[in-house]
Amino acid sequence: LAAESLGAECAVFDGLKKNSVVWMSHNDYIEVLPDGFKAVGHSDKCPYAAIENVEKGFYATQFHPEVNHTEQGFDMLGNFLYKVCHCKGDWVMDNFIESTVEKLREKIGDKKVILGLSGGVDSSVAAGLLSRAVGKQLTCVFVDQGLMRKDEGDFVEDTFTRLFDMNFVRVNCQKQFIAKLKGITDPEEKRKTIGTEFYKVFWDKIREESDGGFFAQGTIYPDCIESGKGDADTIKTHHNKVKMPDDIKFDDVIEPLCDLFKDEVRAVGEKLGIPHELVWRQPFPGPGLGVRIIGEITEDKIKVLQEADAVFRDEIAKSGIEDQLSQFFAVLPDVQTVGVMGDHRTYDHLIAIRAITTDDFMTADWAKIPYDILARISNRLTNEVDHVNRVVYDITSKPPGTVEWE
Ligand code: XMP
Repeated sequence: LAAESLGAECAVFDGLKKNSVVWMSHNDYIEVLPDGFKAVGHSDKCPYAAIENVEKGFYATQFHPEVNHTEQGFDMLGNFLYKVCHCKGDWVMDNFIESTVEKLREKIGDKKVILGLSGGVDSSVAAGLLSRAVGKQLTCVFVDQGLMRKDEGDFVEDTFTRLFDMNFVRVNCQKQFIAKLKGITDPEEKRKTIGTEFYKVFWDKIREESDGGFFAQGTIYPDCIESGKGDADTIKTHHNKVKMPDDIKFDDVIEPLCDLFKDEVRAVGEKLGIPHELVWRQPFPGPGLGVRIIGEITEDKIKVLQEADAVFRDEIAKSGIEDQLSQFFAVLPDVQTVGVMGDHRTYDHLIAIRAITTDDFMTADWAKIPYDILARISNRLTNEVDHVNRVVYDITSKPPGTVEWE
């Protein structure tokens, strides 16, 4: 952290305190200014903490304005948007649903539309919107690869068949995935196998179900930016932007959420009546529990992890601390340990529990869950979940750890 001196005449710092705490976590800094730039902020150690070239409309900071630790950071970003870029801030969500439904009806007409539904927030909200627009003309394809949380597949199916007008197609391919994953222990190979198999099953089903018309995706604005859209250069190909095999033909791709950020998607989801549990779901990795079972994935291990994860989540909810955690889940390391149960020696699974707090998932702190809650979780896991005789709590932040174990 550094105390900054900010140039009052710089539009980005307009109306802000001249000395302010900002976040600058690394030691590198610019020593020589580029031509045409002048310094508008410095710290004790960094001569050019903020620079500008008004003529070119370039503004640069050596610190992070976007993180919470920069006390006036959001005001700086606001100044940049409204005073430098002259954005109006007149985007309102109010009639988003009505106007989008109207546009979808116009575009789709009497044709069919197919959506890949994962049960995550984005595809669920896209499904809700499309259902409202065209009802049974919509087919949602949901692939259950058997690596979801306990009862999750049934919950997704029940939600969409009960609450929304659409054709819901569930592909149950749990056995097929287990067979494909047999003997694989390398994390990358597991991820690759799960991804390849998923899309194989998914596109096969799309071929079966498709009858021309449109293909819909729950892509949201950050996915579009990351994949290159409009004036945003390609940063990386995003997993939410799916490449379609050449032999599958649709009139067009529909992305009803492509102008929205996550919080806006959630607001739409709530208005559409999608259950709270789905709208406010924690991130869940594409390869599912596959990256939380270390070593070979087997049916038995999936069962142990699903049960343990369900008990952990239940106890967190009962303890009333769910809202303080950004993500929490159980992991099944490839470790068995010795224990005692009554008069018997056991040799059974170790369960690791992980809970983090974060704003952006790029960095994360391990959550300081109170000991009494950890004690209850540990008791319940060893008492209620067959084949679990030991529990450890992961106290690694990111970095150096990642959120997931694989
Ligand atoms: P890591 O483990 O990279 O996780 O620190 C950061 C966040 O991303 C989630 N995650 C994934 N999400 N597909 C996804 O859609 C994936 O393959 C994947 N891997 C990790 C993770 O749960 C955490 O929220």
